[in-house]
Order: sequence, then structure tokens, then C-alpha cells
Amino acid sequence: SPMTVLVTGGAGYVGSHCVAELLDRGAKVIVLDNLRQGHRAAVPAEAAFVEADLADTDALKRVFAEWRFDAVFHFAALSLVGESMRDPHLYLHGNTVNSLNLIRATVEAGVRKMVFSSTANLFGTPERLPIDEDTAIDPGSPYGESKFFIERALHWADRCHGLRSACLRYFNAAGAHPNGLLGEDHHPETHLIPLVLDAAAGKRSHIEIFGDDYPTPDGTCVRDYIHVCDLADAHLRVVDVLETRSVRYNLGNGTGYSVRQVIEAVERVTGLKVPVKVGPRRAGDPAVLIASSERIRTELGWNPRFPDLDSIIGGAWAWRSRNPNGYRGPAVAQAAE
Ligand code: UFG
Repeated sequence: SPMTVLVTGGAGYVGSHCVAELLDRGAKVIVLDNLRQGHRAAVPAEAAFVEADLADTDALKRVFAEWRFDAVFHFAALSLVGESMRDPHLYLHGNTVNSLNLIRATVEAGVRKMVFSSTANLFGTPERLPIDEDTAIDPGSPYGESKFFIERALHWADRCHGLRSACLRYFNAAGAHPNGLLGEDHHPETHLIPLVLDAAAGKRSHIEIFGDDYPTPDGTCVRDYIHVCDLADAHLRVVDVLETRSVRYNLGNGTGYSVRQVIEAVERVTGLKVPVKVGPRRAGDPAVLIASSERIRTELGWNPRFPDLDSIIGGAWAWRSRNPNGYRGPAVAQAAE
């Protein structure tokens, strides 16, 4: 029989791409999302949808009473490094309490598998590159710390209750689903690639580079951009491993691009000029984050299908051009070929 999966945050950016992957592989999917960042329109009709917040323990009880899950995929969280530096309590309290509620409900329902959306921000300013799973954890922000708390809670849920978990530390999720139906749409948008695309399209006057005095080749921050569908693929691959043990994997392409290189790539892909201004550093930003994903490559045969930055940006540009108002407005009719 097909696997039944609860996906918290399944209406959000990474969550919705994983829901699509689960449905493609024949799973039955129940999405739980408070729609604070998520979009109802990002959840396909084939998935059941529950609008609820993880702070609402009664709603959680009802969901676990209504369905019998084989696994829980947990994406729902606040996820902005900069915001967490301004309001640490919001992150340290909100992300952890909500996740503890979910972990307790999962254990009580006798569900044995959880796949958890963790982050490269666990590694703060790493001592060596690329960042593998043995790199010392020293979160770069309250956001990263909240994800580390949750990884620890999952460690004890395994030790004490046998709840197996996969902690997947994403580097910079980017791109859009090749089916053209899903993409990145945050309110407000703070992520580099969608903002640079909007500057190229003239929807913003310019892109501001947050600091060009970092110890990197061109002075701007270096990040490892990983296609959101490659992240989704990793989530599906770890489920079988959870039959026997818990795992932690870092997920990136293993290649870093500076902010200036991303801007150049957008100009190349779109053929448009991007106006740039250099501003001050953003609090909490490490200079360089590049993943080593050797462990998941060797153990599970995971291999990014879309590692090329220009094609990641091309997919994001296609979705944003067709959906200038994201999920909120009508899609632009595609020109006849
Ligand atoms: N940046 C700019 N100008 C902008 C926006 C971003 O220069 O207008 C720079 C940032 O300073 C950073 C880079 O572009 O150096 C990427 O910034 P994003 O905000 O797109 O992504 P982050 O690297 O800050 O954070 C992302 C996720 C986090 C996750 C982190 C892990 O949003 O959830 O990756 O690497 F923790």
C-alpha cells in the first residue's frame, strides 16, 4: 500500500516541492500549514490540506487521530537569519516549542519516522571548508540555534522512543519545479536570487549587496545554491534508511558562488542588466558556506540532477516571469511556440 505522509509546512517553498515529489511517487499526502508563508495554491488537489499552526496541540491531536502516518516530513518553521538576529526569542521559542509539540504527537501516535528540515546555519563561521557532518556545530544565529535544539530533541526521541529521524541541513535552496507549477514566493522576499531577478525585470530599482569587504575573492559572501528538487529527492531517499537508523546529511552542490557571481549569472540568463548598490553587511551572515555532501552521495547514491547555477536561475526566472505576482495573481498566458 502507498506510504501516507504528514507534511508540515507543505505549502511553503521547499515543502511544496517535496509534496510534489511524494505525489509523483504515489504517496498519500496530508499537508499541515498555517499559511503564514505558505500558499494554498502551492498544494495540489491530490493532497489533503489542514490549515493549522503547530502551536495548536488540539489541532495536532485531531490530525493524528484522523490519519495513520508512515512518516512525518517537518518543514514548518520561521527561517530568516536576519529576522532571528533582531528577535531571537521569536525563533528560539517558536521554532522549538512547535517542533516539540509535533515530536510529542508523532511519538504518541506511534509513528516511527521523521524527516526534518535543518540548515547550514548550524555551522556559523566554519573552521574548515567544505562543511561535512563532522564539522563543529556552532550556530550562526538564533535561527540556526533553534534548528540545533530540534536536532537534539530528535536525538533523544530516537534514544528514548525509537523515533528515527533524518536531519537534512540545506545550504541555499534555489530554483523552481520544472513542471512550471511551483516556485519561490516569500512575503516579504529576502532571498538573493528572487530579488536579483526582480531587479533584472525592473520590479525593483536595484539589488543591494550586503557587504563587499568579506575575506572572499571579490569581497561578497559565498553560498552553495542547491536546486529545490534535488533537496526533495534527498527527502525521499532517506525514508528507507529510517527503517534501521537515524541520519544527518549536509545538502549542497559543493560549489560556492559569490553574490556578485549570482548577479552576473542572472544578467547572463535573462539578458538584462541588474542595477547594483553596495550596502553594509547584514548581521548574522557568514562569509563562506559550502557543503560537502559526500556522505549522502556514498551512502544513498544521491546526486544533484540540477547542479548548474545558470539552469537553477533559468528555472526560477521562468516561474517568476510566468507568475509576476507569485501565487497571488493569475499566471501570464504562455506565448504560443
Ligand atoms: N544578499 C544580498 N542582498 C540581498 C539579499 C541577500 O547581498 O538583498 C546576500 C546575503 O548577504 C547572503 C547571500 O546574498 O550573503 C544569500 O542570502 P539569502 O538571504 O538568499 O540566503 P542566506 O544565505 O542568508 O540564508 C539561506 C536560508 C537560511 C539558511 C541559510 C543557510 O534562507 O534559512 O541559507 O546557508 F539558514
